[in-house]
Amino acid sequence: MINQDHANFKSMWTEYNGPNMNNEMKQKLGWALIREIAMHSSAEEEVMYPEVSWGLAVCWQIRKRLGDEAADHLLGHDGHQKMKDLLYEANNMTIEKNGETAYTAKLDEAMKVLYHHVAEEETQVWPRFESLPGVDADLLSHLGKKFESAKSHAVTRPHPWAPNKPPLNVIANTMTAPLDGLADMWRFAGNPPRH
Ligand SMILES: [Fe+2]
Ligand SMILES: [Fe+2]
Repeated sequence: MINQDHANFKSMWTEYNGPNMNNEMKQKLGWALIREIAMHSSAEEEVMYPEVSWGLAVCWQIRKRLGDEAADHLLGHDGHQKMKDLLYEANNMTIEKNGETAYTAKLDEAMKVLYHHVAEEETQVWPRFESLPGVDADLLSHLGKKFESAKSHAVTRPHPWAPNKPPLNVIANTMTAPLDGLADMWRFAGNPPRH
């Protein structure tokens, strides 16, 4: 499920850089990409990272051994923060206002961080989590459902200054998501993509 989202981001980005894309198509795809990534990161921070962090903390005492900063890096908060900062900047730009070259360059910066981050998740974070004692198919399917439901009330725009750990992120996301929804109504001309 999570890796499906990752694959989706990559195919959207490939499409963005593909032939026959005019500026209007790129702008729409850029907005849709920012929206998908914001929802995905928000749901991960609500559902997956606390689980992973709890599992790793208990089994390997990783926080104690590595310290908070290194643990945050391993758990992906680091990558999310960099990505949110860059996507926030991209979100405040448009092709019309800033030009196609600058807009694409900013998205490209964000996507480089994203590619690196999703590779870390897929090759390190999730496999380590899945190999922990007590993590079985039932738990994974339960988390998958929670992840999907967190996405349905997730923020749809990047908020780099919002809290990223429970319980404060859940409260902040719940309050912010409707405002993002309103702004998206305008951006997507009354038809924000529904998940
Ligand atoms: Fe992530
Ligand atoms: Fe992810």
